[in-house]
Amino acid sequence: MILEVTLSGLVIILLCLYLLVWRWEQKRFAHIPKAIPRLPFFGNMRELDLNQCHVIMTEWAQRFGPVYRIKAFDEEILVLNSFDSVHDALVVKGSAFAGRPPMYRTATHQRDKHSIVWQTYSDKLTFLRKEVLKSLKMYGDGMDNLEHKCAPQIKVMVDTITKHNGQQFDPWDVIYDAISNVMLGLTLDTTFDHSTQKFKMIKDINYLFNDTFGAGSARELDFLPWLSRLGLHKYSKKLQRALTMRDTFWNEELKLLKARDDTDCIVQRLLKLTTDNQSQVHDVTELTAKEVFTNLILAGTDTTATALTCLLLILIHEPDIQEKMWSEIHQHVGVNRLVTLADRVHMPYIQAVLLELLRYTSHVPLAVPHYTMCDTSVLDIPVPKNMTVYINLWALHHDPEHWPEPWTFKPERFLTNDGQLLPVTDPVRRRLMTFGAGRRVCLGEALAKNRLFLFATALVQSFEFQRAPDETNTKPQQLPKMDPRTYEMGLVLHPQHYQLIALARY
Ligand SMILES: *[C@@H]1O[C@H](CO)[C@@H](O)[C@H](O)[C@H]1NC(C)=O
Ligand SMILES: *[C@@H]1O[C@H](CO)[C@@H](O)[C@H](O)[C@H]1NC(C)=O
Ligand SMILES: *[C@@H]1O[C@H](CO)[C@@H](O)[C@H](O)[C@H]1NC(C)=O
Repeated sequence: MILEVTLSGLVIILLCLYLLVWRWEQKRFAHIPKAIPRLPFFGNMRELDLNQCHVIMTEWAQRFGPVYRIKAFDEEILVLNSFDSVHDALVVKGSAFAGRPPMYRTATHQRDKHSIVWQTYSDKLTFLRKEVLKSLKMYGDGMDNLEHKCAPQIKVMVDTITKHNGQQFDPWDVIYDAISNVMLGLTLDTTFDHSTQKFKMIKDINYLFNDTFGAGSARELDFLPWLSRLGLHKYSKKLQRALTMRDTFWNEELKLLKARDDTDCIVQRLLKLTTDNQSQVHDVTELTAKEVFTNLILAGTDTTATALTCLLLILIHEPDIQEKMWSEIHQHVGVNRLVTLADRVHMPYIQAVLLELLRYTSHVPLAVPHYTMCDTSVLDIPVPKNMTVYINLWALHHDPEHWPEPWTFKPERFLTNDGQLLPVTDPVRRRLMTFGAGRRVCLGEALAKNRLFLFATALVQSFEFQRAPDETNTKPQQLPKMDPRTYEMGLVLHPQHYQLIALARY
């Protein structure tokens, strides 16, 4: 009897405590409108197909307004879906929104203490970003260093495509391999023959990270970390495998790099940092160099390779655009040398195509999640400290109010009536936020744009791309749609694989 009374007392007390905590939680978020109703425990996870998150969240924005919150299991997440709200958060209130949420997938092995992508906002991050930016500047505007690093890889790529001799092939590997080698060149001052084991290893690492960070269901690891602690989740094993393989690769390359004194590359500059005084304050170690290397390789390969694959798919669908690009190259450069970054000012149409490519496809549709560092607000709606924030770039870049006919590929959006490129200060260009904005804007923005320009021009200069014929050789093969709503989510949004024909231009 006494036991029963005590037990029910305990249950009542626990229930009250739970309700109190729940009410306090709800109060913190009360000002932010909810999207759709939630279920206990799951929250909105049932409605939220993790592979199509960005599409669903964009639909919800049309129903519930540009600023709302959703619940993923027990986590409240703020979703920003309009240019005004994103600008207010990332630019006007930059430091308040500059954090990163604690995530199971990035916390293993203290990776979030050393990475520039996953570390929350701190003095160390500011210091590291400044240093990495300095070393990336080696390859920035006005320097021919990047062109020197790209040219040999471009040559291999063009030669490989030429060898197909008008026969159909899938362009993914040849592009991916070239981009991957450029990235290894910039970070480690080394490149690998595509047939070597080492090169295969870096591809496998990339693919494993793609699976564990891209594919929607892997995200459950962050919401339900106990699943992986119990070893119940297939992705947690994959993540471990990726990290182990990455460590092996890194340790071997580090040894080789340390034995050389003739190089200047990003990793070497990071290693130099570990021995200077200021870095000791910030705990910059070899572990930091390893994580930053991983960030750069992952952020720099799949993105550009996918952008180029999408570009070719679009050019096959839109031969007029391909012809216009080609004639701009033909007119200003010809075919006897590669296009350089210095030629870019003479090629407004090509630049407009590449900007439209970034808008249309929006490869990283939800950017990288942010986190509030203090109590703050967005468009006057109070937002509490420690809240995860999704930046829905997909919604921004396809907002019909600012981008008429958002699902049509129109480079002209970025051109004046007389065919000049709109200046960077033009509202149209400011609304393109592919690389984020504010304190955490992507460090590789200039590098990515430059490299995309060099590779895209080299491809269009050398080849005319066409649809592959079907098996009977009588009519063109079915191509995947160019519409990015049909793409699949990995680390970035990918179109399906496809075949094409490349006819030599000269
Ligand atoms: C770095 O530390 C060393 C030894 O602790 C000291 O002698 C040197 O002056 C310091 N340099 C700077 C720039 O602070
Ligand atoms: C925010 O998170 C930090 C670190 O986990 C914690 O110490 C702090 O109490 C949290 N603040 C609020 C208001 O939730
Ligand atoms: C990444 O994952 C997506 C979705 O699972 C897949 O479509 C894509 O081919 C993958 N890319 C690589 C390089 O593995």
